[in-house]
Amino acid sequence: MSEKIRLAIVGCGGMGHRHMYGLAELHRTGWERFELVGACDPVRDNAESLANQAAEHFGSRPAVVTDLDGLAALGVEAVDVTTTPRYHHTVAVETLERGWHTMVEKPMGLTVRACNLIARAAAASDAILSVAENYRRDPINRLAKALLNAGVIGDPRFLIHHAIGGGDRMLISVWRHQKDQSGVLLDVGVHYTDMMEYLLGEIQTVYAQTRLYEPIRKNPAAGSGTSGSNPAGVYGRWQKEMPAEFEATAEDAAYATLTFKNGVVGQYIEDHAGRGQGVWARHIYGSRGSMVLPGDRSGGNLTLHVDGEAAINNEKILDLVPDFHLDAVTTDLFGGNRLWCYEFPFPETDRKIIAIEYGDFAEAISGEHPVEVDAEQGTRSVAVSYAILESGETGRLITIDEMIAEQVDDYQREINESLAI
Ligand SMILES: NC(=O)c1ccc[n+]([C@@H]2O[C@H](COP(=O)([O-])OP(=O)(O)OC[C@H]3O[C@@H](n4cnc5c(N)ncnc54)[C@H](O)[C@@H]3O)[C@@H](O)[C@H]2O)c1
Repeated sequence: MSEKIRLAIVGCGGMGHRHMYGLAELHRTGWERFELVGACDPVRDNAESLANQAAEHFGSRPAVVTDLDGLAALGVEAVDVTTTPRYHHTVAVETLERGWHTMVEKPMGLTVRACNLIARAAAASDAILSVAENYRRDPINRLAKALLNAGVIGDPRFLIHHAIGGGDRMLISVWRHQKDQSGVLLDVGVHYTDMMEYLLGEIQTVYAQTRLYEPIRKNPAAGSGTSGSNPAGVYGRWQKEMPAEFEATAEDAAYATLTFKNGVVGQYIEDHAGRGQGVWARHIYGSRGSMVLPGDRSGGNLTLHVDGEAAINNEKILDLVPDFHLDAVTTDLFGGNRLWCYEFPFPETDRKIIAIEYGDFAEAISGEHPVEVDAEQGTRSVAVSYAILESGETGRLITIDEMIAEQVDDYQREINESLAI
């Protein structure tokens, strides 16, 4: 392997650009582990855009190619797959077979079967597979996990996770509302299912009601409009080209009860059609007290309520976890190894957390440690999200084991058929 890992970004849309900003942030912080040599996208304009901006950040311009053969000619050693979810398995299986270390954006695959195909390719390859799941890498979520591990709220008993809002507005792009391309309950849901398992361990069962409330979605950024949902400000130029309104085919609301292996019960609401007052809440109750978590990537503080003691919502929270230390890359990016809050504009937070993913990927490639989110965990997050949809479809309780074994597919069947897998 050459001194720096020869990397290509495959999929140069919104997240491809955001990943490139994350890589630049990592390098600015002194962790220059990769050389970005390729930008790959069948839509050449998107790859050209990424390559042009990369030239400004890195001082050298990656080559623009439109397929994986083009990358082979560049001698790539690693790829970062940020295509739309429908292509994650086709790209990742092939890159792993070519022996390229592969980091794939969430959701790891479009269905559980697609994830299992990637997992099998990873098992058969000497190359590393990493799933780019960012929310857990937020320093405040690291602190929450440390507090739980230290038993500060006692034994966890109950989780509330509620995310309500959105009305009939398009969430970033049309494909996020299409069942066969990744509906919103998968697109956003995998972040939350990963977070639930990160904080509280494996989920065993799911019972849910699901709905499609808003079959017509509206894109306010179409044409000359300007106010679409646009994380990190990168999506506007594509959103202008998208229709002003379109048919949504994927469910947009889920109301679920989850049980965890350790006995915790979760009440999970993910309603992307909510009107009126929006809600975002993640609360964990234990045998000694409770914890209120801030929004992922917000930098906000945790609040602890322990029986018989005053609430804590400031730096004193760190006294409860003397052994809590962030890893070296996170420490350098966020400017401290024991953080209880942080304050950066969202695009900066976004790229710092993506930089952490690249740091983890590079260290795993170098054999320093295993990746944090591997094929098994990436598959589990997708399995829990689809368990919610399968339960909504069948009206019964679904186990995650039967999901991973592909014994339930009432909901996913038509997606798998459309993928010919
Ligand atoms: N972790 C996060 O916070 C986060 C945020 C946004 C998106 N994402 C994920 O990133 C991925 C991309 O989302 P996005 O918002 O950038 O979508 P997007 O539609 O903006 O971009 C997708 C790009 O992939 C390209 N593409 C499609 N098929 C390809 C192929 N076979 N080879 C190469 N390129 C291909 C498209 O041409 C497009 O340029 C999705 O999996 C999404 O869930 C994650």
